Amino acid sequence: MVNGTATGAEPRPGQCLRTYLRDRGWSGVKKGCDAGDCGACTVHVDGEPVHSCVYPAVRAGGRAVTTVEGLAGGERGGELHPVQRAFLEAQGFQCGFCTAGFLMTTTALDADLLADLPRAFKGNLCRCTGYRAVEDAVRGVRHIEAPAPGCGVGRNLPAPGGADVVTGAARFTFDLGPGAGLPGLLHMKLVRSPYAHARITAIDSSAALRVPGVHTVLTHHDAPARHYSTAQHEHPEEDPYDTRLLDDTVRHVGQRVAAVLADSEAAAEEGCRRVMVTYDVLPAVLDPEEAMQPGAPVVHDKGEWARIARPDANVAGEVHGECGDVEDGFAAADEVYEETFRTQRAQHAALETHGAIAWFEPPEEGGGAAGRRLVVRTSTQVPFLVRRSLCALLDLPPEAVRVVAGRVGGAFGGKQEMLVEDVVALAALRTGRPVKLEFTRAEQFHGATTRHPFTVRIKAGARRDGTLTALRLHVVSDTGAYGNHARAVLLRGCGEALALYRCPAKKVDGYAAYTHTVPAGAFRGYGLGQVVFAVESALDELARRLGVDPLALRERNAVRPGDDVVTLVGEDADLRLGSYGLDACLEVLRNATASVAAEPDVPEGWLVGEGSALSLIATGGPGGHFADARLALAADGTYELAVGTAESGNGSTTVHRQLAADELNTTAARIAVRQADTDAVGHDTGTYSSTGTVVAGRAVLRAARALAGRIRDRGARHLGVGRTECVLTADAVVAKGSAARVTLPELYEAACTEAGGGPPAADGHFGGSPRSVAFNAHWFRVAVDPGTGEIRVLRSVHAADAGTVINPMQCRGQVEGGVAQALGSALLEEVRLDGRGAVCTAAFREYRLPAFADVPRTEVHFAPTADAVGPVGAKSMSESPFNPVAPALANALRDATGVRFTRLPLARDRVWRALTGGACRDPGPAR
Ligand code: FES
Repeated sequence: MVNGTATGAEPRPGQCLRTYLRDRGWSGVKKGCDAGDCGACTVHVDGEPVHSCVYPAVRAGGRAVTTVEGLAGGERGGELHPVQRAFLEAQGFQCGFCTAGFLMTTTALDADLLADLPRAFKGNLCRCTGYRAVEDAVRGVRHIEAPAPGCGVGRNLPAPGGADVVTGAARFTFDLGPGAGLPGLLHMKLVRSPYAHARITAIDSSAALRVPGVHTVLTHHDAPARHYSTAQHEHPEEDPYDTRLLDDTVRHVGQRVAAVLADSEAAAEEGCRRVMVTYDVLPAVLDPEEAMQPGAPVVHDKGEWARIARPDANVAGEVHGECGDVEDGFAAADEVYEETFRTQRAQHAALETHGAIAWFEPPEEGGGAAGRRLVVRTSTQVPFLVRRSLCALLDLPPEAVRVVAGRVGGAFGGKQEMLVEDVVALAALRTGRPVKLEFTRAEQFHGATTRHPFTVRIKAGARRDGTLTALRLHVVSDTGAYGNHARAVLLRGCGEALALYRCPAKKVDGYAAYTHTVPAGAFRGYGLGQVVFAVESALDELARRLGVDPLALRERNAVRPGDDVVTLVGEDADLRLGSYGLDACLEVLRNATASVAAEPDVPEGWLVGEGSALSLIATGGPGGHFADARLALAADGTYELAVGTAESGNGSTTVHRQLAADELNTTAARIAVRQADTDAVGHDTGTYSSTGTVVAGRAVLRAARALAGRIRDRGARHLGVGRTECVLTADAVVAKGSAARVTLPELYEAACTEAGGGPPAADGHFGGSPRSVAFNAHWFRVAVDPGTGEIRVLRSVHAADAGTVINPMQCRGQVEGGVAQALGSALLEEVRLDGRGAVCTAAFREYRLPAFADVPRTEVHFAPTADAVGPVGAKSMSESPFNPVAPALANALRDATGVRFTRLPLARDRVWRALTGGACRDPGPAR
């Protein structure tokens, strides 16, 4: 029985309950890991929660299975389960991919487990929320506020997709909805390289093609000869063109070699096992510093056309900048501190893996792809850029391709790449049939991208009073086998980390080095987290050596109102301090330091300390970030908003509705949003670089203002009054001081029936410039067990200068989620490679994603500022909370233990070794 209905279908041999249920349309059951780690697939079997991905379907025979879709059914007659209601009222989700699992676990909790949520949620992971919103939901905390016409901004309005998220109806990439099957669907699986560097000399697909159900095998012989970058930027020239769709040379373990297409996933997997590839194995280099040495194996030998900075030296990109004379600055200093800091590879770990599905419209009639449009539904942050890249790669006109994103199950920069759409589109074009590719969790680790590992050599000098005299950075990032985002990450990481301080002499030299390892790419913070770790650690150490309060040293040197924002390495002309909330953020940290008396019990023998760190981020990327929006009045007097941005849990949809609702003097609930569809609206650069609010939001605001004006004009004409003599209300245009009114449906009707008419509508556009900056500050108080190296966070405080906060509940959630993700990188997470360069942490249980028990509650404070640049005074706040967390933690650890830690993560074994005087001060790099 599934959700009260008998299902007589036999499972396939060995089939797990997750796929059995999804095959029958219960798409609220999610795939996050297929290893029993993440809990996104949790269902009830006879009332007991189980991970359906590791539960044999055959064992469910004769039992009652309940999925999230069944919670509201049965005796409740469609009414939401109280726990579903609680998750809605607390907005206990962001992307919502994990939510069904949390709901199923929560509804089965007994009183003991309700009192012990860290234990209760051991089997459920969330990458977005930092778990506080989940806890609030379970505890019955209500955050949402009632809507009021024209009062959208500043209110805790719920996300528009919330009801779908808690009922399992939200449509993620592969949730196509009832009756939306794709006849003839081919499943794709990829053959991947076992070698870090090799030339493919032969591929024999004959055995694979003999596997029943295998249809086609694609190799480099089928791929276009063109090179491109998987990175998706508005200006493609930002990235080297060093990638081929399928290449005859492999440059990292896990690189795709061939694509097998079959009628089932199982047949495609079997086909992969039978593809015979002959490799000529070549020397590989796994370390970025070694890669830049003369004589190192060359990763790419492409010509100038590929825009690789220095291919012979394995330098994908480099940045250089300086002001003043740093040597004079160091000579003038009373104290100089120099150290090398290292950050590790980390994975985005969005719970929804990369995946895409392609088909043709109209549906196939008689076979073949000719003359039909290719539709690619994909989990992406950048549907418009993906369409552009597909057209360029496959020689297709834009009108022949539609790219659409469903709800995106987390992204964090990882889906600003084209990692699946290219091969899926090629396969669909070659076969004329629908094609689906969904990464496994292991593929996500070795076939997608990671955060760039950085090595930062920093030298900082200051006078006795803490005034900085010179700052110098020498930065090497490891971009892995391909240069996607390599230079841009360096540029922003180095530039914005230095821009925070008004030191008279600064110098930066940065290099992104190729290695034969899994490629790095865009990741929340975009290089800033790595460089900020070094800068904020170094300034903390410098202050201690000078006997100056570390916070006072930062305050003395930080940029101030009226300063120019100077990155030294980027395009600064359109950067400005649209508002200044850093002073308020520092005040929050000072207050936290002054109120440590009420800390929880600290076990005897543990060491206690506190530390802080700051960061600055430009809200939006340099060089333009474009967004179009279109708003139209609907027949029933509601509105339809079309925007290009994808909703990945960052809340941009909620913000867009609130902005539009204020201008149209209506409620957010009366604005339907169509998004992330290249058919819906003009070009949109995408949901990255913290632009959902500050770029697309301004386009929405402009469209809303224009539409409100048009509707008022039309209403005024209808009522025979002047434009200023009438007002737009939630359902009508009303003449001031009289009862005369015309309803919005009447206006719609009138507009549509006049000659050449149509619904009142307006477009808005914003080009992303000028750009403001936002500030973040974090403070920790920690206790450290010198016997085990365990770090316990006693208190965590974050202050954010987000300008006007459009939705405080949601913005707080972004901060909490960013802090939690950063804590994972600071304490636990590391993508490790073995001696061959292969990822050996390719599952959540090996990679160690933070669970409920690992994440402390963070107190979130917003600086009371209103930005002169952003829409209604708002700044972005999606990436930036990540950046100061690791250095604040390392500074607190230094305060507690006296040891300066220079390498992330601050893992227990690393801390223990340092505190117990183990033979090595640091265990060294993890490959
Ligand atoms: Fe939990 Fe996105 S809301 S994974």
